[in-house]
Amino acid sequence: MRSKLKTLGTVCMVVVIAAIGLSFGDATFAETEIEGDAKAGEAKAADCTACHGKVGISTKTNWPNLAGQQEGYLVKSIKDFRDGIRTEVTMQNFMKDLTDQDVADLAAYYTGLSPCP
Ligand code: HEC
Repeated sequence: MRSKLKTLGTVCMVVVIAAIGLSFGDATFAETEIEGDAKAGEAKAADCTACHGKVGISTKTNWPNLAGQQEGYLVKSIKDFRDGIRTEVTMQNFMKDLTDQDVADLAAYYTGLSPCP
């Protein structure tokens, strides 16, 4: 009887540990970022060049350069405009229809451009 209880205890422990492992696995999966395709991003950036320049270097002092910017920051700032967290009317209008894949592609494109053309 005692050894049966011991076995049951061990089985329970294994189940609990496995469940913890699985939930960590899920959390990791949820945070996985979408892979950006720079080539696709170049095509999608056609609308951006009017303000951010042909190679990601802006022609106006109040429009930011994007060339060579950190990829994660580009993803975050584009999503912030799209989702209304960061507000600036011009940018928000251009960002509102972008999918997460579009954002990843645009970020991959701009991060790969030289900040010093
Ligand atoms: C009509 C002009 C215009 C167009 C077109 C435009 N932007 Fe912008 N963008 C701006 C302005 C102005 C800002 C600065 C907004 C602010 O003051 O917060 C900005 C900011 C940004 C930022 C944040 C930069 C930083 O350092 O914080 C990113 C990223 C960005 N734009 C990406 C894009 C992308 C990608 C496109 C095309 C899909 C695009 N923009 C189209 C004007 C434009």
